[in-house]
Amino acid sequence: MKILVGISGGIAAYKSPDLVRQLKKSGVEVRVAMTKAATSFISPLTLQAVSGNPVSTDLLDPEAEAGMGHIELARWADLILIAPATADLIARLAMGMANDLVSTLCLATTAPIAVAPAMNLQMWANPATQDNIKQLQQRNISILGPDTGEQACGETGLGRMLEPAQLVAECELFNNQVELTLTGKKLLITAGPTREDIDPVRYLSNYSSGKMGFALAKAAFLAGAEVTLIAGPVNIESLHSIKRINVISARDMYKAVHEQITDQDIFIGCAAVADYRVSEVAHQKIKKNDQQLVLTMVENPDIIASVTTLKNKPFCVGFAAETTDVLKYAKQKLSKKNLNMICANDVSNCEIGFNSDCNQLTVINADGQSVIFEKESKASLSRKLINLIAEQLPSTQRD
Ligand code: PMT
Repeated sequence: MKILVGISGGIAAYKSPDLVRQLKKSGVEVRVAMTKAATSFISPLTLQAVSGNPVSTDLLDPEAEAGMGHIELARWADLILIAPATADLIARLAMGMANDLVSTLCLATTAPIAVAPAMNLQMWANPATQDNIKQLQQRNISILGPDTGEQACGETGLGRMLEPAQLVAECELFNNQVELTLTGKKLLITAGPTREDIDPVRYLSNYSSGKMGFALAKAAFLAGAEVTLIAGPVNIESLHSIKRINVISARDMYKAVHEQITDQDIFIGCAAVADYRVSEVAHQKIKKNDQQLVLTMVENPDIIASVTTLKNKPFCVGFAAETTDVLKYAKQKLSKKNLNMICANDVSNCEIGFNSDCNQLTVINADGQSVIFEKESKASLSRKLINLIAEQLPSTQRD
């Protein structure tokens, strides 16, 4: 994929070299065009070094026109990503102006355009900016963000540019190699661990990083599904376009799942939910008085099993994390929890499963048929698993 990154003059331009670096790392070919104001924040030389290509800054540059001129550059791109996009550039794009190189490229291209706004929160909230954004959306220009948080001006609110990693992930949506197998479907997924409090400073949990569940959520989104991700405490960014609900304990996760489950076509339980919690959480820090501490545990509700008892139950996919007799226990869980499909995950192998970037699964459906997914990255494995789920959806749910 070839992405032309357009940089306009905002403080968030300091993140642009990292964005270009991350895009290149993900296999994208990158060229950069900058507005004059952008060059006051970051040097074209830096971007030339990270992109590995000359950087274009002038519309009327005889040297550039003799090489890759602005029309060739506009034709070259599979996607134009404007990041950061200032209020001024957004206004000029809305007006269809071509008074500098970046705005001209946007006017001259037939490729999709995505815009990552970055500005002060009042400028973002201003009706003029909001009208301009609506105009861009009506012309099928994608608006990525903005995010909320601390701003360079010292205020806190909506207007921060999305982080480079999020923008890189969003760009994959424009890579038309992804099969749209779940268009129109709603998919709810749990990911990560849960935490069960012992006292105000201690908890019980497990090694789930959330990588598998987040990769599946992204793959489902790229396949066209409307995705809701219920995440335990993890340190991973999710796609901006995915609805994310953060939870801590198994009971929080249970509640969030049941608040979101209506109308879902598919439910995937990828979270490593704590089976037990401490029966009584101490209100104060437990003191080290004795050589032994005995905790009494009670069972947590089984989230996925409760979903499969619903009248309009979605297509339910569970995971079975096992260290011995993996297939035997996975099959037992498939039938006991009344699932449509289960992914048997051998978590005794530290190269796959918990916290690894790779996984290896045996997927068994309710008829007992199984498919083996050999060890590969969680991202590519997720694409395959999502396609398998799409194939196995009952025809009533598929259409
Ligand atoms: O997050 P990563 O580091 O990427 O690791 C991925 C993973 C190893 C966590 C993942 O691939 C995985 O195997 N997830 C399931 C972990 C687990 O808790 O398995 P289980 O065999 O204990 O549970 C069986 C199924 O019941 C799972 O779908 C689980 O989400 C669900 N469950 C379990 C207990 C409970 N109270 N409620 C549930 O819904």
